[in-house]
Amino acid sequence: MYVSLVLSTILIFYVHGGFAVDCPKSSAQWCENANIAQACGVTEQCNKYVWKIRDDNDRVNLTVYYETLCPDCRQFISTQVWNAYQSILSILNISFVPYGNAHEVYQPETKLYQFYCQHGADECFGNLIHSCLIFIYRNTTQHLPFIYCTESTEGDVETVAVQCAEKTSIDYSKVSACVQSRLGNQLQHLNAVQTDSLQPQHQYVPWVTVNGVHTEDMEQQAEKDLVGLICKTYKGSNPPAKCQKYL
Ligand SMILES: *[C@@H]1O[C@H](CO)[C@@H](O)[C@H](O)[C@H]1NC(C)=O
Ligand SMILES: *[C@@H]1O[C@H](CO)[C@@H](O)[C@H](O)[C@H]1NC(C)=O
Ligand SMILES: *[C@@H]1O[C@H](CO)[C@@H](O)[C@H](O)[C@H]1NC(C)=O
Repeated sequence: MYVSLVLSTILIFYVHGGFAVDCPKSSAQWCENANIAQACGVTEQCNKYVWKIRDDNDRVNLTVYYETLCPDCRQFISTQVWNAYQSILSILNISFVPYGNAHEVYQPETKLYQFYCQHGADECFGNLIHSCLIFIYRNTTQHLPFIYCTESTEGDVETVAVQCAEKTSIDYSKVSACVQSRLGNQLQHLNAVQTDSLQPQHQYVPWVTVNGVHTEDMEQQAEKDLVGLICKTYKGSNPPAKCQKYL
């Protein structure tokens, strides 16, 4: 009677994690559960190789430097980027930098930047809309559908933006308020700085970096098969099904 009481007390204690877990001698048991893994100091390895949990830090960083009205940018975003977004977003961290081949001049009187764009003032306006949108709707799942929509739709910049905002649950009045403010001007300037500090400097648009690096070969792969490029670059665990054929 006494013994069984003691035993059941021990059992209850054990089930509730009251005892410190020792690391077993046999490595086959190290990933048996989270407590054992922790006792053995192998939580990270178990996550990666046995439990196959994806680590956000393993996401491939893709940065797209573009300008809103350039035909090749529109093509790239509405095919390759959109396809990657739909199939392998779980291993991707996408950043958009709308600016491209534009240039800027600081105006001391107004303390604002004046922008000059390859495809004219309409393009500057489009770039500004995208800059504000990305700032307000930081989450890729919020802003990417709008970017896709505007890049794949021909027409007057603001008309298209209003239509796309409605389709993709964006509050256009918020974007518009930013576009007309000093904040918008400053955001566009930050994209100018980021674009102009690329190493090597960009020579055309779209221009991509993958984990911060750009090569000619990489750019060609990105424009032909972005999913393949990202899958081959991904070093984390549990690659998505859409990556299987590249492994
Ligand atoms: C995603 O990219 C942004 C911008 O480059 C960076 O600040 C952030 O740390 C990245 N997140 C991950 C999980 O890599
Ligand atoms: C992605 O960028 C973030 C922020 O710069 C960095 O911490 C992370 O290591 C990068 N991811 C990869 C896979 O290089
Ligand atoms: C981004 O949106 C997705 C889907 O709506 C959501 O699961 C995720 O938590 C959001 N991320 C952030 C940082 O808000």
